[in-house]
Formats: sequence, C-alpha cells, structure tokens
Amino acid sequence: MLEFDDAPKGLARLIYASRSLSVGADFSEDVRTILLTSIHQNRMSAITGFLVMGEGRFLQVLEGPLAEIEATFERIRQDERHTDLVVIAQGPAERRMFRDWNMAHHQIVQADRMLLATAGLSEFTPEALDEAEALRILATLGSRHLR
Ligand SMILES: Cc1cc2nc3c(=O)[nH]c(=O)nc-3n(C[C@H](O)[C@H](O)[C@H](O)COP(=O)(O)O)c2cc1C
Repeated sequence: MLEFDDAPKGLARLIYASRSLSVGADFSEDVRTILLTSIHQNRMSAITGFLVMGEGRFLQVLEGPLAEIEATFERIRQDERHTDLVVIAQGPAERRMFRDWNMAHHQIVQADRMLLATAGLSEFTPEALDEAEALRILATLGSRHLR
C-alpha cells in the first residue's frame, strides 16, 4: 500500500528509478512498446508524466488520481522488463508538473552530462537522487521538450 492518504483532492505524484533488464536493440524495442502502452493506458487513467532513460536506467514520474497511480504502479512494479525499483518520492501533489503529456520520454544524451553533474551524478544513476534533485532533473529535461 502506498501512503497518499492526505492527498488534496486525491492528486498524487510518484517518482521511481529502476534498471532495465534488456540491452541494445532489445532495450529500444522495450521502450517503444512501454511508451505505446503507457500513452494509451495513462490517457484512460488521467495520468500524466515523464520517462527518462539511459545507460540501462529508468527514471519516471507519474501524476494523477491516487487510485490510478496506485493501480498503475502496481503493474509497473511487476513488469519483468526492469528490476531494482527504488521509490524516490510518493505523496500528494498540489498541481501537475507534467500536465502536457500522458507519457513523454527523453533519452539521456551527452549534452545532459552537465545537468547530471549538478546533481552529483557522473553517470545516469537516478536511484541515487533525492526527491528535490529528481524533480529538478525531470523538470529541466521536460522543459527542453516542445509543449
Ligand atoms: C519503465 C516502465 C515504465 C512504464 N510506465 C507505464 C506507465 O506510465 N503506464 C502504464 O500503464 N504502464 C507502464 N508500464 C507498463 C506496465 O508495466 C504494464 O506492462 C502495462 O501497464 C500493461 O499492463 P497489463 O498487461 O497488466 O495490462 C511501464 C513499464 C516499464 C518497464
């Protein structure tokens, strides 16, 4: 059970990191299918968010109604395409920070190194981030996407 009991109007946010279980072409294929499913399912569940991947890692933020976040994260948790899930933050949210996308995605590139370094990361190891740093990285990468 997640702890969202005091969420105002039931809006919740969850951020987690995980490690992919596939490499190379399989990783790209996994990401493609994950995004197709996510965009469709999240639209039906009023979930918005952002998925960042790179170096075999995922960092994802999900925002939406508490019950939908719980149900979606339960499916994600059981997904055998990744492992070592670390919940970085979970709780009520006052507003959506990623309201424009049912699930946008970003692949870490060389140009992101500087940003990662400001959070103390020499590689993309998002499981090491705390809530504030994870949100800052997600928001910065998200703001570079077209809205
Ligand atoms: C890194 C990662 C992120 C995912 N993100 C979402 C998501 O945002 N929404 C979603 O519905 N499923 C997401 N999934 C897929 C779910 O784990 C699951 O496969 C999908 O919801 C279909 O579930 P079902 O086959 O039980 O219907 C994600 C999976 C992975 C590995």
